[in-house]
Amino acid sequence: MEFIWLCGIFVAMLATLCLLLLLILTLSWWVFPIQIHKKLKRNGFQGPTPSFPLGNIEEMKRKNIIKSSLESSNLTHDIHSKVFPYFSSWQKLYGKVFVYWLGTEPFLYIADAEFLKKMSTEVMAKRWGKPNVFRNDRDPMFGSGLVMVEGNDWVRHRHIVAPAFNPLNLKVMASMMVESTNQMMNKWTNQINFGNHEIDVEKEIITIAGEIIAKTSFGVEDENAKEVFNKLRALQMTLFNTTRYVGVPFGKLFNVQKNLEAKKLGKEIDKLLLSIVEARKSSTKMNSKKDLLGLLLQENNHVDRLGKTLTSREVVDECKTFFFGGHETTALAITWTLLLLAMHEDWQNQLREEIKEVVGNNEIDITTLASLKKMKWVMNEVLRLYPPAPNVQRQAREDIRVDDVTVPNGTNMWIDVVAMHHDPELWGEDVNEFKPERFMDDVNGGCKHKMGYLPFGFGGRMCVGRNLTFMEYKIVLTILLSNFTFKVSPSYQHSPAIMLSLRPTHGLPLIVEPLN
Ligand code: HEM
Repeated sequence: MEFIWLCGIFVAMLATLCLLLLLILTLSWWVFPIQIHKKLKRNGFQGPTPSFPLGNIEEMKRKNIIKSSLESSNLTHDIHSKVFPYFSSWQKLYGKVFVYWLGTEPFLYIADAEFLKKMSTEVMAKRWGKPNVFRNDRDPMFGSGLVMVEGNDWVRHRHIVAPAFNPLNLKVMASMMVESTNQMMNKWTNQINFGNHEIDVEKEIITIAGEIIAKTSFGVEDENAKEVFNKLRALQMTLFNTTRYVGVPFGKLFNVQKNLEAKKLGKEIDKLLLSIVEARKSSTKMNSKKDLLGLLLQENNHVDRLGKTLTSREVVDECKTFFFGGHETTALAITWTLLLLAMHEDWQNQLREEIKEVVGNNEIDITTLASLKKMKWVMNEVLRLYPPAPNVQRQAREDIRVDDVTVPNGTNMWIDVVAMHHDPELWGEDVNEFKPERFMDDVNGGCKHKMGYLPFGFGGRMCVGRNLTFMEYKIVLTILLSNFTFKVSPSYQHSPAIMLSLRPTHGLPLIVEPLN
């Protein structure tokens, strides 16, 4: 009798739990998103009609397929309709601000610089959120590192992380960059001596940029650190070489095996990095190492931190964030530059002349690199035409008023950087031409709106690692341009595409000749 009674209680509890779960799922996948959507519509925001449970994902995939079948070798820089065919066609119907859906998550699409300015003057950096859907999806990569944290936690992380990227601190990392680039240069020279002049520059640069970021972040001398590096690369492949259903209820079930693999790799990386962090903490000699991890631990130890420090777990997440936030983006900035220089021999020669004048036969010194003015214009122009980070994301954590409309609390936002960088209304009719001289007298490249050029994001959450990128960019290009000439290979197919970053789909084969 007692047994039946207990079973009854158990079944009742289970049923209540199931009902509760159903209620939570209905609220989060149906009621709340619909409420936000209705509010957005009431405020006049239009957009394509979504369907349950995929939102507009099917349409986005269809438009991508049409684009891939039209892939061409036509070397145009007018890339927005190629990399974001769906956004480009929705823009024609709904303007530069509209609503679309990833699964059951409504997103406010923004390619209007003035709208963005008005919105960001309303919201302080620490009050911005990052979309929960992306935070969950990318947890094995970023955890609670700076890219993803919010509120007072973001302030605490940013105060400890930002000083590490001070140019004075970065100075000591220059030799690591020179060493890796020289190794790559020797490898290329050997390959060319064997008569093979075609090099997939994208693959090569991504490899050394990964090595550089691992060395500058946490050192790679010991076996543990090398293993971390290999596992980090494997994690990235696992997560992003599969079609993802972000925002779709039970979307992870579409890729169960890959998601389990990513989780397992994530745990292994955390364990290895944690052992490196703990070893550094307990050894005064290792603690004073001048890589980013060493600088974080030093900053963490400041007496005036008053408890506002990072835990070992958070330091691990920052190391992973540097790796994922820093290596591919910088590598792609260099890769796209080599394509544009290969297309524009005049600019290749101008940069070579500048390097001769500024560096000559001297060893690379980070202070003199600041005088490479034309190289900086070229970098700015490449980041405009081919921004490695093609979008910036936010989530509203409060209602935001923009003129007479309200963006409701909880709204996800997708800021289309590629669209703004290719908008003739912001840049003029020559928007799709490579003209580094735009940046000669204007850090904003003559853009008619100061929020129209956002290669490193905007506001207080702007990229913390950009000084490291500037240094690496100048060092790698100085060495490569002083030793080689570059031409576009006939086998190159121009097909920029979004794979988290903006990448050349088929790599970047260039014909590389030694400079006599
Ligand atoms: C060409 C190279 C790079 C590009 C294009 C780039 C781009 C960006 C963009 C667009 C953001 C988002 C800003 C926003 O939300 O407003 C960002 C944030 C960030 N980047 Fe970079 N980045 C680059 C290099 C690096 C490097 C080398 C590192 C570190 C080693 C790094 C670490 C970060 C971090 C930690 C954040 C988060 C900052 C915050 O939310 O406070 N990035 N980056």
